[in-house]
Amino acid sequence: MQALILAGGKGTRLRPLTVYTPKPVVPVMNRPFLLYQIEILAKAGVTDVVLSLSYQPDKIEDLLGDGSDYGVRLTYVTEPSPMGTGGAYRFAADHLTETTIVLNGDILTDLDIAKLIGFHRKNTAAATLALKQVEDPSAYGLVETDGQSRIVRFLEKPRSEDARKINVNTINAGIYVLEPSILDLIPAGETRSFEYDVFPAILEKKLPFLGFSMDETYWRDLGNPASYLQAHHDFLSGRISGSSIDRTAPFDRATAASVDKLSVIGAGCVIKPGARIVRSTLGPGVHVDEKAVIEDSVIWGHVRVSAAAEIKNAVIGRSCFIGRNATVTGGTVLGDKASIPDYSHV
Ligand code: GDD
Ligand code: MG
Repeated sequence: MQALILAGGKGTRLRPLTVYTPKPVVPVMNRPFLLYQIEILAKAGVTDVVLSLSYQPDKIEDLLGDGSDYGVRLTYVTEPSPMGTGGAYRFAADHLTETTIVLNGDILTDLDIAKLIGFHRKNTAAATLALKQVEDPSAYGLVETDGQSRIVRFLEKPRSEDARKINVNTINAGIYVLEPSILDLIPAGETRSFEYDVFPAILEKKLPFLGFSMDETYWRDLGNPASYLQAHHDFLSGRISGSSIDRTAPFDRATAASVDKLSVIGAGCVIKPGARIVRSTLGPGVHVDEKAVIEDSVIWGHVRVSAAAEIKNAVIGRSCFIGRNATVTGGTVLGDKASIPDYSHV
């Protein structure tokens, strides 16, 4: 079984975190994000994974290698310039010879992919989309199905009045099973979108097009910093099953410092006396000085948090400096190398 991960977007909505780090390898619980997708694919018996890239491909390849560490064979396909989601799938056609799982590269989920494939096969579908119910569907692709789970309408990011008219809150979760026949609907070398071109063409041609409900399953689009931070809260509160959290990295904690059981501390961190870490993830080599407090936050590697500083509900990029008694709160996101002077509030 094969898979294609669409990871060619620039990740603009996740800035500043994606200024120096491509979105697919932004660390989530201290691991490159794409590993979570590779993990659920490998679990379902997928052996070959094609990564479809166009932005900073070398950084991604350097980090993930040939995939042997994760039990899959990784192939990298880089478009000369972004060809859209459908165009990127067509561009990788030489590598896609059988039924293919396609994933949007920014979805965090613990979906049982084997179940999705089973549903697709049972219905002899040409294409199956995983579907999720959300409160406000307007930022997504809206999908309407009939009583037999057949997709009858697909509307990408409708204006809210159009969304209201359709009156469904089921969205495209960005996880597909596609038969190779779908490749024939896309001309080679051209820019095409699954959402605006290919899915409407499947409907027009009346090919068997099915929707698989994944409502019982955790699902999140890591599209913006708030969602990125929330994904960490979800991990730490046990809302994501299947992926174990690694708390084994060696670090140096003063006996008078407190680190709660939920927090994850990267290798080589130093936590000084009186410091307190609660429900947070610290990357490698973070230095936390005396009496500093870090709560409900994500701190990337090699950050220095000075004495009595307070970080609550924030994301701090790599190699930042937080001065003495400074406070960083309320969903603040700092890009790499930011420096917050002593006693500042951000
Ligand atoms: N290779 C390649 N080339 N990848 C691309 C390109 C491209 O030109 N354009 C986008 N991608 C990748 C992005 O990196 C991302 O992983 C995925 O395709 C989807 O693009 P987004 O930009 O994240 O789309 P979205 O979140 O606004 O909407 C999509 O996802 C929603 C679910 O989160 C759509 O598929 C919606 O229908 C869906 O509901
Ligand atoms: Mg997205």
